[in-house]
Amino acid sequence: MGKRDRISPAPARQGRLLLFLVITVLGSLFLPVKGSAESGSGDYNIRRGERFFKGLLPFDRKHAACASCHNLTPTDTLNWNPSAWEISVKYAGQDFESFRNAVMEPMGGKMAEVHQQFNIEDEDLRHVKAYLDSMATKGPASARPTFFNLMLFLFLGIVLTWALIELIFIRRIRYRFVPVILFLGAFGWQAKMVVEEAIRLGRQQHYAPDQPVKFSHAVHVGEQGIDCMYCHTTADHSKSAGIPPTNLCLNCHVLIREGTHSGRFEIAKIIEAAEKGENLEWIRIHNLPEHVFFSHAVHVGAARLDCNQCHGPVEEMHIMRQHADLSMGWCVNCHRDTRVDFVDNGYYDTYIKLHEQLRAGKIDTIRADHIGANDCMSCHY
Ligand code: HEC
Ligand code: HEC
Ligand code: HEC
Ligand code: HEC
Ligand code: HEC
Ligand code: HEC
Repeated sequence: MGKRDRISPAPARQGRLLLFLVITVLGSLFLPVKGSAESGSGDYNIRRGERFFKGLLPFDRKHAACASCHNLTPTDTLNWNPSAWEISVKYAGQDFESFRNAVMEPMGGKMAEVHQQFNIEDEDLRHVKAYLDSMATKGPASARPTFFNLMLFLFLGIVLTWALIELIFIRRIRYRFVPVILFLGAFGWQAKMVVEEAIRLGRQQHYAPDQPVKFSHAVHVGEQGIDCMYCHTTADHSKSAGIPPTNLCLNCHVLIREGTHSGRFEIAKIIEAAEKGENLEWIRIHNLPEHVFFSHAVHVGAARLDCNQCHGPVEEMHIMRQHADLSMGWCVNCHRDTRVDFVDNGYYDTYIKLHEQLRAGKIDTIRADHIGANDCMSCHY
């Protein structure tokens, strides 16, 4: 069977079909962006404000674009500056004057440093406010536009299928490396997308979500030397270690209103929440399944383990993250490996039999699993 046998207008048609698909897919990708722009008189101001914020207007400005410090989309790394979305929410209900003052007459050392040499016309700033106000009504941009990703995935799928069919059945393209490269490229990209999604959905080790305030253990424990138990007060006598109520933050932050990294913006949120009588709503990071029983009191109070053994180098974490995978294997292995300080700890006096064996020299060490820590019923109700 020679390749020439298949005489047909197929290649031309294929080419056109592919072109059509490319145009449709790309078209649909950009459609929502255009469609989301509002119509009306404020529209122009909003767009101009957006361009100013992103530094796209051709003016001679000494300061950097607002967006270079105030993120428009969430990032994986810690950005101490308030995001554009946070600023938009804070000033949505306030008039132009207070917004102007906040930007142009900086309060505090950090502000004076970063908002230096701002020489902005009121008109431009009004546009920026209009832009931020519209942002506040729309909600924050997501890290990755999922619709975009879906279309991209489908598009890659089409390219991949076409390249495969071309390679195996049609074989019209003389330069074989073209479909090969297309195939490998599309396949690789899809694989990357799948892996990224799987990581996001999967196990929660290293999970580190955005919190309502950029609270840093590195600052409080590492630099300020505050003891874990000062904030996690119940760790030694209760099942849960406990998350500090916002009032506890006030012990210090009534006075300390400015941080080295974040300036005044983050600490202001604490004060505001406290004045409203609300608690900051921290997003929970560690989460064992319902059917597992775990108690801090046993591990911190009785067994006198160090927090770091399970939570890692917390004093270095600006963003709290889950250190261990919290799997059953993790618990059970530690119970097999960890010696219990049996003799000098009053908590274990009830284990008379083990004490006798220990004294008689029948056993030399006692590990957690010897005293029942690895019985199914200890951990599962
Ligand atoms: C000044 C108060 C303070 C101190 C001191 C402190 N923490 Fe925290 N900790 C918090 C706050 C607030 C949160 C919730 C926000 C977050 O997750 O970062 C938290 C969260 C945590 C979490 C995650 C909880 C979850 O959601 O699963 C762990 C684990 C933790 N702290 C361990 C420690 C350890 C270990 C130390 C000592 C090395 C320590 N903390 C010291 C205030 C504190
Ligand atoms: C033996 C391992 C271990 C030790 C030691 C340990 N933790 Fe935990 N910690 C865990 C596990 C497991 C969880 C998740 C519990 C859950 O989801 O029910 C957790 C959860 C937490 C939480 C989230 C809130 C809660 O209590 O559920 C905080 C805060 C915390 N630990 C702080 C501490 C501090 C502070 C210390 C030291 C004083 C400490 N932990 C010692 C294993 C440990
Ligand atoms: C025992 C005192 C103390 C307590 C309690 C405390 N902090 Fe702090 N915090 C400090 C000090 C001191 C600083 C200033 C560090 C610096 O100069 O940057 C600070 C800084 C901060 C910063 C700014 C960090 C930076 O470098 O920009 C934030 C945000 C913050 N704290 C949040 C909290 C929250 C939320 C709580 C309650 C869960 C809390 N703090 C409880 C002492 C405390
Ligand atoms: C070099 C980085 C940088 C640039 C550029 C920048 N900002 Fe900021 N901005 C900051 C930081 C950091 C803070 C928080 C400082 C603080 O809270 O003490 C802040 C705070 C703000 C606040 C909130 C003040 C408050 O506490 O409520 C507003 C509003 C603001 N910026 C608007 C703008 C606008 C508009 C532009 C562009 C014209 C801009 N910023 C450019 C770094 C920057
Ligand atoms: C860093 C080591 C370590 C890790 C990790 C650890 N444990 Fe333990 N655990 C111990 C030690 C030591 C004891 C012995 C203390 C005792 O029994 O009095 C213990 C005891 C226990 C007990 C027995 C309590 C009793 O007295 O009957 C339970 C239940 C338990 N652990 C659950 C868990 C679970 C669930 C996990 C995992 C989520 C876990 N542990 C992870 C060290 C660890
Ligand atoms: C030291 C604590 C501990 C002991 C002892 C223990 N488990 Fe578990 N088990 C866990 C933890 C933690 C998980 C949750 C693991 C996860 O979410 O990945 C779990 C999960 C499970 C699951 C669910 C599996 C899954 O993927 O969710 C089963 C079934 C189970 N254990 C059975 C047992 C049996 C049977 C025993 C006795 C031989 C036992 N466990 C003893 C801590 C323990």
